[in-house]
Amino acid sequence: MITVDFEPEFEAWRIEARNQLAKNTHPSEIMWSQNRTGQAGFSFIVDQPQMTKNENFRVDPDFMKVASIVASARDDDRWDLLYRTLYRLKHENSNLMKVTIDDDVLRLRRLAKDIARDIHKMHAFVRFKEIRDEAGLRYVAWHQPEHRCLKLGAPFFMRRFGDRAWSIFTPDLSAHWDLKALTYSAGIPLSDFPHKDDMDEVWKTYYKSIFNPARVKIKAMQAEMPQKYWQNLPEAEIIRDLIREAPERLEELARNQPKAALVAPHQNLDQLRRLASVCQACPLFEHATQTVFGDGPATARIVVVGEQPGDNEDHEGRPFAGPAGKILDQALKLAELARSEIYVTNAVKHFKYKPVGTTRLHQKPTGSEMHACRPWLEAEIALVKPEIVVLLGATAGTSWLGRLPRVGEERGRLLRSRDHREDAMLSWHPSAILRAASDADREQKFAELVADLKLASELQQISSVSRTSAQRSSKPTP
Ligand code: URA
Repeated sequence: MITVDFEPEFEAWRIEARNQLAKNTHPSEIMWSQNRTGQAGFSFIVDQPQMTKNENFRVDPDFMKVASIVASARDDDRWDLLYRTLYRLKHENSNLMKVTIDDDVLRLRRLAKDIARDIHKMHAFVRFKEIRDEAGLRYVAWHQPEHRCLKLGAPFFMRRFGDRAWSIFTPDLSAHWDLKALTYSAGIPLSDFPHKDDMDEVWKTYYKSIFNPARVKIKAMQAEMPQKYWQNLPEAEIIRDLIREAPERLEELARNQPKAALVAPHQNLDQLRRLASVCQACPLFEHATQTVFGDGPATARIVVVGEQPGDNEDHEGRPFAGPAGKILDQALKLAELARSEIYVTNAVKHFKYKPVGTTRLHQKPTGSEMHACRPWLEAEIALVKPEIVVLLGATAGTSWLGRLPRVGEERGRLLRSRDHREDAMLSWHPSAILRAASDADREQKFAELVADLKLASELQQISSVSRTSAQRSSKPTP
């Protein structure tokens, strides 16, 4: 019997397994010993095993993919199962992974599916709490996955919350993102994780906003959100109350369909931006990298609204940062407006796209996505209190005016929506200029965008002056 002492990680097992396979060691002769309690982040000096070549044997990539997931199963016999399957792929049937009724293959696939579900739950149920320590502002969460799958689940949080430092603690392992690198350290029990803060309130408010009593299926809910997770979910405290109040909430929901983001109390744009960064009011958050919130000073007299972030904005986290942004910048310059004095935002704050090969093709947001996002736009504009809102294109127009406008006909004049105090003006979206059918069309639309921005600037100055003089004249004389 050979005892293979290895760090219980996929890569370490892979090297050892290949070496044993090259020597044709039968699975019954190996004892996989996980005595090296190594976790990434702890270094201990060991002789690094070298990979031996298995002449003429190419491992089925499907097996490698499944194996890289199954390696994080909690089951102690996973290494035996993996090596046995590998050995059988070499000696018995190189197409073994296609034999769906084979016991080993069946077990591997079940475990992989189980772990994928566990990762999905991690993505759904991790709730960050905000803490400030000597290292600054950080977000921390404690979670208990069924399997040891933190390493598989953590990169999602890096993509989604890459702009802030966070740590996720589990009993097995902890993951840390410091804006530069993802590192791992030992796990901790829940008792060592006492953090509680006001983000709990945000989650409760958010959960209330998405809770749909018409779809309450308690069994399904408990299966999806097992009791085990409840202790870490701030919203768990309110689930029972919400279910009890379901009939009244059904009525309320019927009145308020479709769903819109519920904006928790906030005092400034930074707080609002933080709230929006965890918004899940529509499904667009799932595939976008981040919420792309508005950008510009809270004192801006003009707010410019676009449609939604594109590919560049989704990565950079700033509106109008790509080709459409270049057109906007050129138009602003010709209109003698400084971008740094304007608040620029979008009607929808997540990038909606369809993956085609390696590209992400822009998709127009639907009415319910615009509706879901509108509270953020309203809250931004309520804080900035501009003199005029410039709506670029039909999506921004629809979102703010509450009707589908005809940009070509309505652009360049003052419009007022039913619900808003601010004047609004429609103009061409820079993408419409980029997509124009001919050079002449492009030049005309661009000139019209510049003219509209100039007019907005003049109107804004007039409103500011008349407001200041009105304020002045209404002041009681001493
Ligand atoms: N198009 C938009 O409408 N907004 C952006 O931020 C970028 C492109």
